[in-house]
Amino acid sequence: MAQKVVLAYSGGLDTSVAVRWMIEHLGVEVICLSADVGQEGTLEGNEEKALGAGASVYEQLDLREEFARDYLAPVIRANALYEGKYPLVSALSRPLIVKHQVALARKYGADGIAHGCTGKGNDQVRFEVSSMALAPDLELIAPVRNWGFTREDSIEYAARHQIPVAATKEKMYSIDDNLWGRAIECGEMEDPWAEPPAGVWKMTQQTATEPREVTVGFEQGVPVSIDGTAMPLHELVVAMNHLVGSYGWGRLDMVENRRVGIKSRETYEAPGALALMMAHEDLESITLERDLQREKIRMEHRYAELVYDGLWFSPLREAFDAFVAESQVPVTGEVRLKLEPGRCFVVGRKAPQSLYDYGLATYDAADRFRHADSEGFVRLWGLGVQTWSGIQGPGSGR
Ligand code: ARG
Repeated sequence: MAQKVVLAYSGGLDTSVAVRWMIEHLGVEVICLSADVGQEGTLEGNEEKALGAGASVYEQLDLREEFARDYLAPVIRANALYEGKYPLVSALSRPLIVKHQVALARKYGADGIAHGCTGKGNDQVRFEVSSMALAPDLELIAPVRNWGFTREDSIEYAARHQIPVAATKEKMYSIDDNLWGRAIECGEMEDPWAEPPAGVWKMTQQTATEPREVTVGFEQGVPVSIDGTAMPLHELVVAMNHLVGSYGWGRLDMVENRRVGIKSRETYEAPGALALMMAHEDLESITLERDLQREKIRMEHRYAELVYDGLWFSPLREAFDAFVAESQVPVTGEVRLKLEPGRCFVVGRKAPQSLYDYGLATYDAADRFRHADSEGFVRLWGLGVQTWSGIQGPGSGR
């Protein structure tokens, strides 16, 4: 049994109760880690709450820059959208947090890692599988999965132990957010037929009314500038969230397949992520050679599944990233996005190494394409089905 554990501490009801519960029921010493991954609301007050609940050490880390550089940039380059839609918001922060939990475990000589996830979700999978990959020797502890508390039980437990929590009995939604977006679950949305209530949206409240354009600059597949102003990715993502979100665009409503076998109705808002990925994919359309682009598209779904399923730290993801890195060398250029209330779309793209050849594409006098070559090309291209048709298919008279 573990003696000392590092808990991923959000400051919410579950993780606050988890601190005391683990001390009381497992006899462990608890170290709390609160990570700033760009979530709304500050971590202010977390230290007092953690220590007040009985933690022996509280550490707070600003991981925004690392999150953007090492986790968001790769998924932008890979166009990784789970089930073709979800930009992996929560799936990306978990491995990063675990990486730092493991580092703290080493620093303080802890022998366990703990999280506050339930047994029904993906996040438990991501926390634990990431830990298994990085530090197979560490014990995994999931108090919320085992204690069998209802929300009321947790609130009572907190009150009984004077654990400072700001929770009310009727919490409507389960929300997780970071730089990359916001996930809103539960409440009315558990009925997949019910429209999400207007009040659930935060990042995508429309305030802008005048259409405008925004130009995103990319270097080797990574966004580096907005309207010509260079900025680090973690700031650029925030700027895009504000800008695109103010047009009320960037919402998702989907029923997705969780790793644990549940179909779950999920709503997300990720204005910056979705706009940047749209722009990136568009830039690839002029910079990637056809077969490379096709093969990359085939890989992208697998990449997203792997990350969603908690396998960020895996040899396959690393191998995929090596392939993606090689593909992104020419993906430098600019994409023009147009923003209108409720809409965001690409209206132009350019790149120094664009493969778009005007002389080949045009129908006007500048046309350099050798039309006559197509005759023989098409004849041979269709030869196989022509042969088939005459003997076995529609042309055989059978
Ligand atoms: N369904 C999403 C995912 O698996 C979001 C999870 C959000 N987590 C939460 N605790 N509300 O990535």
